[in-house]
This record gives sequence, C-alpha cells and structure tokens, in this order.
Amino acid sequence: MSEWSPLATRRTLLKGAAMSLALAGASSAFTRRRSIRLGLIGCGGRGAGAVASALRADPNVQLTAVADAFADRIGARLNALKQQFGERADVPRSRHFAGFDAYEKVLDSGVDLVILASPPHFRPIHLRAAIEAGVHVFAEKPMAVDAPGYRSLLETSALANKKGLCVASGFELRYSPPVRQAMEMIHDGAIGDVRAVFATYNIGYLWHRGRRPEWTEMEYQVRNWYYFTWLSGDHIVEQCVHLIDLMTWVAGDRPPATAWGYGGRAQRTEPKWGDIFDHHAVVYDFPNGLRASVMTRQQLNCFNQVSFRIVGAKGDAELIRWGGFRFRGAITRELRTPSEHPELSTFRRLFQAIRSGTMFNEIPQFALSTMVAIMGRMATHSGQLVDWPTATESQLRLAPNRYAWDADPPVLPRTDGSYPHAIPGFTQAF
Ligand SMILES: NC(=O)c1ccc[n+]([C@@H]2O[C@H](COP(=O)([O-])OP(=O)(O)OC[C@H]3O[C@@H](n4cnc5c(N)ncnc54)[C@H](O)[C@@H]3O)[C@@H](O)[C@H]2O)c1
Repeated sequence: MSEWSPLATRRTLLKGAAMSLALAGASSAFTRRRSIRLGLIGCGGRGAGAVASALRADPNVQLTAVADAFADRIGARLNALKQQFGERADVPRSRHFAGFDAYEKVLDSGVDLVILASPPHFRPIHLRAAIEAGVHVFAEKPMAVDAPGYRSLLETSALANKKGLCVASGFELRYSPPVRQAMEMIHDGAIGDVRAVFATYNIGYLWHRGRRPEWTEMEYQVRNWYYFTWLSGDHIVEQCVHLIDLMTWVAGDRPPATAWGYGGRAQRTEPKWGDIFDHHAVVYDFPNGLRASVMTRQQLNCFNQVSFRIVGAKGDAELIRWGGFRFRGAITRELRTPSEHPELSTFRRLFQAIRSGTMFNEIPQFALSTMVAIMGRMATHSGQLVDWPTATESQLRLAPNRYAWDADPPVLPRTDGSYPHAIPGFTQAF
C-alpha cells in the first residue's frame, strides 16, 4: 500500500473483534477526509460499465488507477468514461498499468475499492490479492473456472471476514428488488413446494478478436479468452451462471447432490472457437427432490430464449425482462422490472458499508453458484454423473505453469490450428 492511503494502512493494523468498531471510527474520518478511491482491473465492456455505475451511485467516488493485460485496451474505455464523468475518471498515465502483474500495481496504488472485471480465470487470484492488500471488492461473475479456484475463494472469504472487508458481486439479479421479493415469496410458500426449475440461456454468437502474427499463443488466447475453457470456464460457467445462481437461490443457497448432462460443438468446428462447446444441457438433482433442467446454447440461426421458470405444487413463477417476476396459479401477480439497473443499488450498498464500517461479504453464495456451474461443465465435458463432493474436491487445475506472454497456455493448437476439446464419454473433466 502506498503512503497516500492512510485508511488502508491503518486497516491492516486492525485485528479480530475490534475490527468493526475500529472500522466505524476509521470510516467517519474517511467520510470527512476524502472520496473513495476506486481501481479497475480488466478494462473491457463490463469493467467500464461497472465503473460508470459506481461513479453514478456516489458523487464522492473517484477512479484513480486502472489495469489491463494489454495497454491498448485501456485508452478507449477510459476516454469514454472521462467524457461522461470528467475529472472523476481522469486517471493519470502513471496509474495505467498493463501486463499479467498489472493488478498488483493497482492494488498497491492506494485504492480503497477495486472492480475485478478481467476474464473469470483470474478472479480467484485477483480477489485474494485484493483482500490481502486490504482493499474492498466488487467482483464480476463468475468467480472461478475450476474447483481449486472455488476452494481458493472460500479461503479468501474467511480472510475478508477476518479483515472486515466488503465483497459484492456482479450477479445483478440478486440485487433486483422484484427478484428479491419473488424469492422471498417462493421461500414463504407462494407456489407451494418447489418441484422443478427450467432454465434456458440460448443466444447467438458473441465477439471474436481475431489473430495477429505478432501475438504469441498466450496473447492470442487471453485476447480471445471467451473461447478457452481455462479462461472463461466455457459459456455454461461464463454466461449461464446467472441462471444457475437463481437456481441455487431457489434451492436455499444449497448445492445440488448430482449433475449429469450432455453438450458439444455442433457449429463451433473452426479453430477460432478454441475448445469450448456451443451447447450444454444439464440436469441438477437436489437433496430435497428438486430437479432443475438447465440448457444453454450459443449457435447461429436457431430459436433463442433466455428464460427461468420455477414450478411449484400450487403454481409457477417466471423471470420476466431480466429483473421482474410473474406468478401464476395460487397467486397471480406480476412484479415489474425496476427502471433503475440493480447494479446501482449494489454500489450504493457497498459505499454505505465502506463508509459506515459495516462489512458484508458475498463470496460464499457466489462461489457456490459458480461451483455449481463448474459442476455442470464437468458433467457435460465428461458425459458422467458428477456428485457435489467429487466436483468440489477435484484437483483438475485449469492454469498455465506460469503467466507470461512467451509461456505455453494449458491448451495448445494442433498442427492444423484446431484445439483439442472435451469429448463426452472419453474426457476426464474433473
Ligand atoms: N454481470 C454481467 O451481466 C456481465 C456482463 C458482461 C460480462 N461480465 C463478466 O465480466 C468479465 C469481463 O467481461 P467483459 O465482457 O468486460 O470482457 P472484455 O474482454 O471486454 O474485458 C476483459 C478485459 O480484461 C482484460 N484482461 C485479460 N486478462 C487480464 C489480466 N490477467 N489482468 C487484467 N486484465 C486482463 C482483457 O484484456 C480485457 O480488456 C467476465 O467475467 C464476464 O463474465 C458480466
């Protein structure tokens, strides 16, 4: 921590039970003294969007340091933020950091809060470093790509509690007031015993950033992180985790007993699509008898639908317009999608907690949903039935031996440029 963050320096000296009281004292000094210093790690679309929400949520917040794996990814996003928020987003060049170790420099620059928005692979590493550095966190979903990452999150969570640090996440549906109300109603029995959940996340194609001759294989993969399981977790983890999170919420934030499913690459046959699947379908069975069917597909020219339906003994409830809910059966009611993006309330809550010294830590519930999504991928990539203990104790670590542009990524192209990918029934995926 640099000298110009007296709060963070003092925070590192505080221990145990004295923490929240002491933090409250520190926080009032904090409120009087200056604004909250915000750092960003991962300057992509989502990182910039989260910064904009943070700056909108509280006028006394200032973006002070940014990091990205690539220097060329920083400028455009920052310029757009500067146009919108003026000097509150005017980060001097001396605090633009690039490279695999850029996150350490942001954490060492005196920030109070950091937004983690790099590809999911790096989340457990960056989250742990932030908490060790005494910095509050807003972490984008998903939180990890493998079981070792999940276990690391749980250790980091214990450390965050010990240090009195706040951690919020980008699972925005959790912060939507109508969705919260719907979940309360469902847990209070509004649709009777919940018997089944049906979720679909079926869309078309996303971006691809091409390949340049001067890029090493590692650079190519990190730039096109979406298409490599070790970086994104595959799209069942990267994208469908939103609905899987709703599913675990319905189940009372408890894990399923087992998962099985199928998936493959019907359209993604060209090398540019790396090693991820283009469809997954998973059946999760919970210990209380609840069965959930989760399908996710990224293919062109097919019927698309993003939907989430909960079927109970006395009716059903369905997510509408990504933030509202419709009940049918014993209760007929529509809870409208809020006009304000739920992320604004996430940041308001986070700033209020930081200023008042009341900590909250959402790592456990979001680590759980992430691990349930990873368990689904283990099932689709392997073609096997996977149980929760086997999934969470898996030693399969999706990571390179070292993080450097000249290092080998965990998956390398064959001579024809294509990448080895999972074959259900033959691949050991957990
Ligand atoms: N909550 C939501 O609805 C939502 C929506 C979109 C994306 N996301 C999540 O946000 C994250 C980022 O997604 P995005 O769409 O902004 O992707 P993006 O590719 O636009 O941005 C990611 C940025 O991280 C950089 N990066 C790569 N490795 C890095 C490293 N080791 N250190 C620092 N920076 C690194 C990349 O160069 C890139 O600029 C993903 O986890 C994604 O799942 C969440």
